Amino acid sequence: MRTPLIAGNWKMHKTLAEARELVGGIREGIKGIGGVEVVICPPFHHLFAMAKAIDDSPVMLGAQNAHYEAQGAFTGEVSVPMLKDAGCTHVILGHSERRQYFAEDGPLLAKKVRAAVAGGLNAIFCVGETLQEREADRTRRIVERHISDVIKADVPAERLIIAYEPVWAIGTGRTATPDQAQEVHAFVRAMLASTYGQPTAEAVRILYGGSVKPGNAADLLAQPDIDGALVGGACLVPADFAAIIKAAGTWAAVSS
Ligand code: 13P
Repeated sequence: MRTPLIAGNWKMHKTLAEARELVGGIREGIKGIGGVEVVICPPFHHLFAMAKAIDDSPVMLGAQNAHYEAQGAFTGEVSVPMLKDAGCTHVILGHSERRQYFAEDGPLLAKKVRAAVAGGLNAIFCVGETLQEREADRTRRIVERHISDVIKADVPAERLIIAYEPVWAIGTGRTATPDQAQEVHAFVRAMLASTYGQPTAEAVRILYGGSVKPGNAADLLAQPDIDGALVGGACLVPADFAAIIKAAGTWAAVSS
């Protein structure tokens, strides 16, 4: 049985005071909830402070990006060893906003995922189609291409987490139905199985992301291949994020 994982992608939100308040609210809200892993992914400059703020709590820390080199003349970038130094255990890579606004492509992302995993971080690798691609019935082809980018880079599966985030569902309030999401998640798992073998593929967490809210989390998480969520907007509201974590914890307790 895979332990569900709920990760909050803060994107470019929160001042330090707001970040402290948010983490305080999350810590309070998840008291007594077990059986679920929780990761917060604040902006880079909050990482050290947030590492302190989650100290002695089960909440883990992730970053939203990383460079593939350990160090060097790369102005504005942050490396995997630096993230580890700041207390990170996870890093989000290949988010559609990075692909769309910062021109991150498959070969670059493969290098990043390989560096993150080799450096001891759990890579939350995002895949997903645009609305245009879904309407053209190209969802599987796009997701297959995204996944094969990292598979071709010989990334070991042990520290790999996949997040299926249909671009049309991000920040739009329009969520994939549980069936739509499950279909893609099962497809991703089958792809992983054909590369890594069934037992390894069974152990990889595949998260869903795209307008996950307290009201739809339970139905999504009840799907057999949905192992958690990558949450944007709702992770900025402690009560909402805690409610999603609670839904995952409840599901884990029922299905174990
Ligand atoms: P929303 O939950 O705001 O749709 O964002 C999803 C996302 O992009 C998480 O990485």
